[in-house]
Amino acid sequence: MVQFNLPKNSKILKGQYFKDKTGSSNLKIVHVYRWDPEKNENPREDTFEVNLDTCGNKVLDILNKIKNEIDSSLTFRRSCAHGVCGSCAMNIDGINTLSCMKSYKDIKGDIRIFPLPHLKVVKDLVADLSTLYRQYASIEPWLKTKESKSQKNEINQSKENREKLDGLYECIMCACCSTSCPSYWWNGESYLGPAVLLQAYRWISDSRDEEKKERLKMVADKLKLYRCHTIMNCTSSCPKGLNPAKAIGSIKKMLATS
Ligand code: SF4
Ligand code: SF4
Ligand code: FES
Repeated sequence: MVQFNLPKNSKILKGQYFKDKTGSSNLKIVHVYRWDPEKNENPREDTFEVNLDTCGNKVLDILNKIKNEIDSSLTFRRSCAHGVCGSCAMNIDGINTLSCMKSYKDIKGDIRIFPLPHLKVVKDLVADLSTLYRQYASIEPWLKTKESKSQKNEINQSKENREKLDGLYECIMCACCSTSCPSYWWNGESYLGPAVLLQAYRWISDSRDEEKKERLKMVADKLKLYRCHTIMNCTSSCPKGLNPAKAIGSIKKMLATS
């Protein structure tokens, strides 16, 4: 039977309140989702008073400050801190984005930080991306050419063909788009989702690749591709300003005309 209410152990409870100890009058109230798989407890929302006088501008700076100065058990992913690795993606103030790119100055009032939505949670702000990575591997994201060619010669590409990859190669696989897509929420195991389909289109569009037909055939499936209903959430959530919905539309068009 369909269950409309969250099971009791999934309800988010009010957590701890960490009061500022610095005496600063320049405070930001930050609410953070917490869940520890090693404790048999419901998820909770902890609240931190953060002194902005000694904090960088980005939400990631706030998280680092909480971890370094207030609660070292807070768990989140990050690496480059420059919008390049994609690891710090999370839901900030209701929007999926990169915490290292998001300025807290753009957020009026309290800040609410959650893991990327509709994924299992590993711990606190770390969402489980293993299904997405498996789907990414399934589109075989590497250049495919006849062996002799790839091993011996550099493969030249015209300026025009190189430009066809603009808007595609910049994708950092942060998953902000896929986890904001309602079709992916409900069919995440079978529908590839916007991040993986944009990557599929990146290889289909590469003039050096010799398996364009096979790649198109691989995604031409009513579940893998046609679960996209052009809702466009993906495009509006991409922190790199890319357009996965357009890439998906281009794959559909190629299939319709091939
Ligand atoms: S298309 Fe944008 S939102 Fe989606 S994975 Fe790539 S960079 Fe992230
Ligand atoms: S356009 Fe397609 S991929 Fe993007 S949010 Fe809508 S259904 Fe999902
Ligand atoms: S830490 Fe690498 S993109 Fe944010």
